[in-house]
Order: sequence, then structure tokens, then C-alpha cells
Amino acid sequence: MATPRLGEIAPDFQADTTEGPIAFHDWKHDSWAVLFSHPADFTPVCTTELGRVAALKDDWEARGVKVLAVSVDPLQTHDAWKIDIEQVGGAAVTYPLIADDSRSVSELYDMIHPGEGDTSGVRSVFVIDPANKVRLNLTYPKSVGRNFDEILRAVDALQLTDRGPFSTPADWKDGDRVVVAPSITTADARVRFGDHAVEEVTPYLRYTTEGAEASVG
Ligand code: BEZ
Repeated sequence: MATPRLGEIAPDFQADTTEGPIAFHDWKHDSWAVLFSHPADFTPVCTTELGRVAALKDDWEARGVKVLAVSVDPLQTHDAWKIDIEQVGGAAVTYPLIADDSRSVSELYDMIHPGEGDTSGVRSVFVIDPANKVRLNLTYPKSVGRNFDEILRAVDALQLTDRGPFSTPADWKDGDRVVVAPSITTADARVRFGDHAVEEVTPYLRYTTEGAEASVG
């Protein structure tokens, strides 16, 4: 199966999870979603990752994001492993873990990369918007744990750039100035955001602080 690409509708599916059966599009409804795969239960990097995602519960909620983990292990293993995750992360696992023993979700999202050792999933992340469009995709090898602060930062950037003619520059974080989109002339940007609020570094690189706050404070 081809990897779902940016701008495409994230494929719908039905799955058994630690929170009961779900139909993905119905479950996420009009929220943002982060669907992320991990190779296997009772493995060290995965335990730290899922613990971190649990500890960030308030941060996901503040952004209107529902999180959903997937691996090819069965429900009974997920349920037993949750105890370790909660101990390591210091927070209850309140988001669902998909038991993808059939590999149907992993294959639908192209999460199994044979070059990565076996037929478990690699560390994929899909950020999906309220209209069910894929907005971001990351793929990490099994040996490298993901940085979930970066995923929150990217969600902030996506939500901010949906609100106006902005892009976010290298290393942007909430509160930093943003780039005025190329579709707006500098003159128009000065009218729209205020003369004082637009800095033209080159004719194509213009920064502004106006209207550029992320949705969470
Ligand atoms: C881990 O989570 O530590 C892991 C899982 C599969 C392969 C390599 C590392």
C-alpha cells in the first residue's frame, strides 16, 4: 500500500483498541489526530515513547488533538504493557492502542518497512486535520525514539498557518515571528498587519508578529 500523502484523505479503518472497537473517522470526528506506530510491546524505546505521549495529555487536549497508537501486537499484550508505560511515563494511558495483529492498519498506512528488520511497524507519525486530510508524515527507524515536543510544535505550526497567510521559519516555536506567505506582497502585508509589524529582509523573506500566536497559550 502506498503511504498516504500530504493533502490526501487519511484512509478510514475499523480496529480493536484498548478502549474498545473504533471506526477511525467516526472516532476522531472533527478533531485533529496524531496516529503513530511503534514496533512492539515490552520494548524499551516504545515504552518511553508511549509514556511520554500519556504525560502530554493536557498538551494534546489544549490543541484539540486525539492521539492513537498502533502496533502489530494483540490486545492482551497491550493491556499488560500499559502498566509498565504508566510507571515509566508517570501518567495514565488514556488514549487507545490499536491491536493490529492482522497488520491491516499498518499496511494501509505503509508503516511496515522490510528494510527495518522484521514485519513489525517502524515509527511513523501522521498528523491528520479535522477534515481528515493528512497534514504531516514523519518516519523514524526503530532505533530512534521520536521527540513529541517536536510533534506538538508542528501541530502548533499547522494550526497557525491555517489561520492566515503565514509560514513558519526554521526552528520556529510558539511566540516567535512568522514568515509572510509569498502570495502577499510586502505592501499588502504592511496594510494588513501594520507598517511597524512587517520586516522585509529580502523581497521574498518578510517577517511579521501580527496575528501569529499559536492557539494555545
Ligand atoms: C524499542 O522500542 O526499544 C525497539 C523496538 C524494536 C526494535 C528496536 C528497538
